[in-house]
Amino acid sequence: MAEIKFEATKTFKEKPDVSSIGFGTHFSDYMFEMNYNREDGWHDPKIVPYHDISVSPANTTLHYGQAIFEGMKAFRQQDGKIVIFRTLDHLNRLNNSARLLDIPNVDINTVHQGLKKLIEIEKEWVPAKIGQSLYIRPFIFATDPYLGVSVSDTYKLLIILSPVAAYYAHGFAPVKIMVEDHYVRAVPGGLGEAKTPANYAASLHAGLVAHEKGYDQTLWLDGVERKYIEEVGSMNILFKIKGEIVTPSLCGSILGGITRKTVLAVAKEWGIPVSERRITIDEVCEAYKNGELDEVFGSGTAAVISPVGLLSYKGQDMIINEGKIGSFSQKMFDHITGLQSGLIKDTQGFIEGV
Ligand code: COI
Repeated sequence: MAEIKFEATKTFKEKPDVSSIGFGTHFSDYMFEMNYNREDGWHDPKIVPYHDISVSPANTTLHYGQAIFEGMKAFRQQDGKIVIFRTLDHLNRLNNSARLLDIPNVDINTVHQGLKKLIEIEKEWVPAKIGQSLYIRPFIFATDPYLGVSVSDTYKLLIILSPVAAYYAHGFAPVKIMVEDHYVRAVPGGLGEAKTPANYAASLHAGLVAHEKGYDQTLWLDGVERKYIEEVGSMNILFKIKGEIVTPSLCGSILGGITRKTVLAVAKEWGIPVSERRITIDEVCEAYKNGELDEVFGSGTAAVISPVGLLSYKGQDMIINEGKIGSFSQKMFDHITGLQSGLIKDTQGFIEGV
């Protein structure tokens, strides 16, 4: 493994007021950097002062979007220990996204060590308050200065850190979701399972329309028949129907969420039936009509567990669990945040010290 160099900064930023950090607006003093070219492969991993970067106006990512990213979190536990959650799952997913975008795979070990070293250096930036964390954003983008449409020969990987509170400004509270029946996020054979900016770009306009109508997010249906439920974009979606946790199976157009995987593993541990399968919006509406739709919630690194209080489809509102946080969503939120804060013992190897 290549040695990770360290270049000390001369200026340190003032840490933000933790009572108003929000999500993704403050950045720590350092970042991890590594570059790729065809001759040297991924090389020169280093931790450097956080700084603006300059790219050619012909940079291929700016024009054609050959880029991927990840999102994970570090926590300060009750006893002061700093831990990260399911790091290797995230780094493996980064390499899966890389495969789909023809970006050269990274050496997981080098990035893992670089990430841990970065967090160790930046440990003062990890907030102590429960519900807050240090969000870790690794990303890779093509750096060729070239206007032809082709796979780049050069890339940059950066990891930046941002102290964050809840993703939604209103914190852990039910959200209003509009089922999107016009626009589509991804199609079979496309990039839907990759964590790539294109999927987020595809969601922006529909998200804006939903916001203007008073909803927090859109729920995507499949891009062909517009009947199978896929995901929310910033999170996966799960339903509790007649006591069973049902979530769309990973069919190639849905991101394989790490929190989704955690929820399914924990629910199984609790002896609750789970099912990963295709589920139609009509089935959900039918379950609602029959009083069998107990709960709906989203899961994601940024969102953790996000209860859905209202689901709207073709202008019909379904009020879920009287618009309140469901008991399963609450229990799962408490469990995951408990594991992260150290209040609950980790029996499944999700937590890693730095
Ligand atoms: C995450 O949950 O980490 C995400 O990447 C969602 C969003 C902030 C883009």
